[in-house]
Amino acid sequence: MFIKVPKGTQDILPEDISKWYYVEDIIKEILSKYGYKEIRTPFFEYTDLFVRGIGESTDIVTKEMFTFPDRKGRSLTLRPEGTAPVVRSYLENSMDRISKVIKLFYLGPMFRCEKPQSGRFRQFNQFGIEIIGPKAPAADAEVILTALDIYKKLGLKNLETAINSVGCKKCRANYIQKLKKYLKDKKDFLCSECKERYDKNPLRVLDCKKDSCKKNIEQAPLIIENLCQECELHFSEVKSYLDDQKIIFHVEPRLVRGLDYYTKTAFEIISGELGAQNAIAGGGRYDDLIEELGGKPTPAVGFAAGIERMIITMEQQKVGWPPKKGLDVFVVKVNEKIKDTAFRLLQEIRNAGLSADMDYSGGSLKSQMRIANKIGVRYTVIVGEEELSKNLVILRNMQTKEQKKVKIDNLINELSP
Ligand code: HAM
Repeated sequence: MFIKVPKGTQDILPEDISKWYYVEDIIKEILSKYGYKEIRTPFFEYTDLFVRGIGESTDIVTKEMFTFPDRKGRSLTLRPEGTAPVVRSYLENSMDRISKVIKLFYLGPMFRCEKPQSGRFRQFNQFGIEIIGPKAPAADAEVILTALDIYKKLGLKNLETAINSVGCKKCRANYIQKLKKYLKDKKDFLCSECKERYDKNPLRVLDCKKDSCKKNIEQAPLIIENLCQECELHFSEVKSYLDDQKIIFHVEPRLVRGLDYYTKTAFEIISGELGAQNAIAGGGRYDDLIEELGGKPTPAVGFAAGIERMIITMEQQKVGWPPKKGLDVFVVKVNEKIKDTAFRLLQEIRNAGLSADMDYSGGSLKSQMRIANKIGVRYTVIVGEEELSKNLVILRNMQTKEQKKVKIDNLINELSP
């Protein structure tokens, strides 16, 4: 029996990799236009970073982390997200000394031990951005605009942008009191998870997808109606920046997100094509996180997006992919006696900067031509004994099917585009 990939993980096969390169190149192109610099943090961190950063009672920390001890018994965790590691690195490398505003992006695998389903994996790829420093609402708007700009360039359509404000420490504490008061006599009708959330993280009851909970929170007080003056002003400025940029969005007053670090703006971008796992991006402001992880109070805002979900949406929306790039040249040998000369020629072609390959399996001329056709090359260079004796090879243009004899000394010139 073959050993299979672990549950919730998948191979990205060579025939699909060009899609990933395409998406990643566009992400990097747009992010550099907005002034973001890439950061690469380790795939694992000390567990405490996520417990303190994401929040002890969140689903991610209580049930979804891949946590293991190192050989000295220190607890490590495969990163379930990128924000806490970026903040750790920001603090560890004293980035505040470099500039008052730091704009970073990351791209790579994240790990969550969730129940796999369509669009939900245990190892998935995210790209994300973090702006550390500014408290201005324009930064929140920029983060949303950046995400939408990338999706537009990729040709994604029919995306919904939902935004909310989850307030700050001050106004949220008051709101939570109100919410708990409202939920108190409904507690028995909530799902078992929400019963626990009532004590540990009552805000999360608001975005429970179970019908019984949804019904019971219909009349719950809304956080946007309980914001302090500062948070209310911030939220209205973010909305007016988006209006000014003609961004279509809706306020979703029950959007609270699954990570505890958010303050003020929270948002999600949703694709109707994805079914239950419909968020292709999510993010918001996290003005307290840097202080909670040991730094000076520093406001920040960011988002992350699942690349698998972007690619699934692009496929469902039949967004055109750029044509796959084949090789420039395939070297075909008429018989095995001249394989060494053919190999030398192949390296010469590669050394001249062209992409080239040949078949080492000793297949017939016909089967080598079949391979050349299958992998889609611009030219085949056919090496035959008779031609070699005159310092010639046959050059076949695979598109026009024209072939001619060319001098070996002149081959690179002939092949150059
Ligand atoms: P998040 O909402 O947990 O936020 O994840 C962001 C995106 O990652 C989701 O919208 C989704 O597209 C993708 N994603 C999450 N879990 C999975 C999964 N199991 N399988 C496939 N895709 C998934 C964060 O991670 C925050 N760090 C975002 C952020 C950055 N907030 C501020 N800065």
